[in-house]
Amino acid sequence: MIVAGFTSTGSKRPEALFGAADPGADLPVRMRRSAGPRIWDDQGREYLDLIMALGAVSLGYAHPAVMTAAREALERGGVGSLAPVEEERLAERLREVSPWLESVRFLKTGAEAVAAAVRLARAATGRNLVIGCGYHGWLDLSSTGPGVPGSVQADFRTIPFDDADRTRAAIREADNALAAVVIEPVVDGPPSIEWLRLLRAETERVGAALVFDEIKTGFRLAVGGAVERWGIVPDLVVLGKALGNGFPLAAVGGARRFLDQVGRTWISSTLATEFVALAAARAAVDQCVTLGVPAHLGRVGGRLHRGLARLATEFPGLVSGAPGVPEMCYLRFRDESVGGRVAAEAARRGLLFKRTAYNFVSLAHGEGEVDFALGVIEEALIAAARC
Ligand SMILES: Cc1ncc(COP(=O)(O)O)c(C=O)c1O
Repeated sequence: MIVAGFTSTGSKRPEALFGAADPGADLPVRMRRSAGPRIWDDQGREYLDLIMALGAVSLGYAHPAVMTAAREALERGGVGSLAPVEEERLAERLREVSPWLESVRFLKTGAEAVAAAVRLARAATGRNLVIGCGYHGWLDLSSTGPGVPGSVQADFRTIPFDDADRTRAAIREADNALAAVVIEPVVDGPPSIEWLRLLRAETERVGAALVFDEIKTGFRLAVGGAVERWGIVPDLVVLGKALGNGFPLAAVGGARRFLDQVGRTWISSTLATEFVALAAARAAVDQCVTLGVPAHLGRVGGRLHRGLARLATEFPGLVSGAPGVPEMCYLRFRDESVGGRVAAEAARRGLLFKRTAYNFVSLAHGEGEVDFALGVIEEALIAAARC
């Protein structure tokens, strides 16, 4: 194996998928093709996918309008030495659909875009301390473990999701050292409006930036993500995943006084302005709006989420619940090894199902796909229960 750790995306390791580094020839580990709600592995076997590239794809794989835009941009060269027209066009489109994105900046990965949001907040406030809630990517800011300096970790604290008392206490304790609070708006379930209001009021009180990391929720809960769904407007929003429907693009956007910090600090990447992903993203945003994608995800995802909740009650010895929201949900297994067995049994029956992490429907998933998936997961649970 030449790729260190098998693959460059941690959640695509066989171990992450099936709980075993060498899961056996009957399970898929590398793929060749994707289309709609399906992928094909290197043996040519076909799978219905509920993982959807870890939520990077909300319209379905190889969506025709997105592929046409990408192909057209590719044929025009895809990259060059000047700022591409697609960059400003996409920024304008984002501001049309989410007016709180007064100004934006594009990057390639979600982790980079979160890091940019934090850099902007630190530059604007002249402070260092950041409070986080949820997953914000692999970069040093919110990581622990070997290779992350203690000095970096010292500037990062976490708060529990939707816990008003501890959030208030953490923000008040940090007080005028606090640069930003970065939260995922959905962690295992929706937030209470009281928590979001408290976050808004307390960050304003201490003069820190409020950042919504909408990398999973943007273009999924609503076109304008959690901001649109719950009506609380943060200072900065981070977007990724569904923004490009699988093309590599992320963005940080929001209040101009924060984005204007790009003139004082340095945020830049050579290929942030390749324009295939920028063109693809504009097409993806247009499709999201015109086809009412979030409503579809809510409806079809609701069927999945209700089905998972039913399975959780039917297999209480294996599963302790079905956390999430319709648009992103999962089964919480009592034991990691059971989750691995269920995912393996599901794959043997033609379904890619994420264990103990979010599953996502897309525009390409209908009720038939969801019912097939639920049937397979039920069979997989029965098979896993026998072991
Ligand atoms: C909420 C959230 N923030 C940040 C990230 C990091 O994004 P990326 O993996 O594109 O760097 C992720 C990825 O799963 C995410 O879900």
